Amino acid sequence: MLILGIETSCDDTGAALYDSQAGLLAHKLHSQVDIHVPFGGVVPELAARDHIRKLLPLIKTVLCDAERDKEELDAVAYTAGPGLAGALLVGAALGQSLALSLRLPAIAIHHMEGHLLSPMLEERRPAFPFLALLVSGGHTQLVDVKRVGHYDILGESLDDAVGEAFDKVAKLLGLGYPGGPHIATAAERGDGRRFRFPRPMTDRPGLDFSFSGLKTYTSEIVKKHELDAQTIADIAWAFQDAAVDTLRIKTQRALDQTGHRRCVVAGGVGANQLLRAQLNDLADEAGYELFYPRPEFCTDNGAMIAYAGSLRFSKKIPMGRDCRVFPRWSLRDLSY
Ligand code: KG4
Ligand code: ZN
Repeated sequence: MLILGIETSCDDTGAALYDSQAGLLAHKLHSQVDIHVPFGGVVPELAARDHIRKLLPLIKTVLCDAERDKEELDAVAYTAGPGLAGALLVGAALGQSLALSLRLPAIAIHHMEGHLLSPMLEERRPAFPFLALLVSGGHTQLVDVKRVGHYDILGESLDDAVGEAFDKVAKLLGLGYPGGPHIATAAERGDGRRFRFPRPMTDRPGLDFSFSGLKTYTSEIVKKHELDAQTIADIAWAFQDAAVDTLRIKTQRALDQTGHRRCVVAGGVGANQLLRAQLNDLADEAGYELFYPRPEFCTDNGAMIAYAGSLRFSKKIPMGRDCRVFPRWSLRDLSY
């Protein structure tokens, strides 16, 4: 069974081919970072227009790389939400029309389900059930994953997602976009003794997050200091330390609460080395097993969409025949 996966929810154009027997055959990503850098963030209209330019050539490349023909496809999976409406529409329109012309099923995939399942693309993959910590530019969630399609959200951000906080703090510090990798690099030169930032909502029970207060706290510190290179590094260190520590505390709490022994960490912020180190220490101490996608599959990609599509296809989940997209769409509403 051969599935084409298409990802266009934000600023990465992704395409991949997943074979249910042979695994991932090919995947390609086109990053739009250079287009959005001058604006300090994603410009939705520019994102959609660039997806239009890049998606079809990318699909042709993955078919060519895998030495497969489009006639050999069994289904086309595309991200239908959540994300930027215009960007999503490009993938939905192409996915649906390609499927229609080849008389194949088109499978609408939830972007966060793609992230959640992305560690399954690795050789060492988690068995169900498990806890998932989803940390991206748009979401921060702790999810109790019973099996494919059965997701119980235990906690989530009440305001900014953690990746969004990384991006906004990077902007405050005059660092580049996307902020996460720039903050991590700047923090390497930081003096950890200079500042200590708050760990939001860790002093009360519950698994929800709030990162906008941490961002505001950081902006107050930024206003009070001359932003020389060392101060930028020190603030980046303190922000990253607080954000990662908050994620660690809540993940530990969720593992204790659910009794899960396996934890998946996925989404762009899952590439953060400090987060991985802290969670690895926690796992070593408490005997948990951690599962990550390889770093290139932490951020948006077509492979996770092709994989999620293959699981849905194999379970014969009903699929729509329209181009609707869902810019705001909760994992809670995914039932099959
Ligand atoms: O999953 P993703 O590619 O897109 C969304 O679905 O949102 O995540 C992008 C987010 C951005 O906010 C980016 O700053 C963050 O992931 N990110 C990181 C790192 N790499 C990417 N945050 C912290 N450390 C990193 N190394
Ligand atoms: Zn994503």
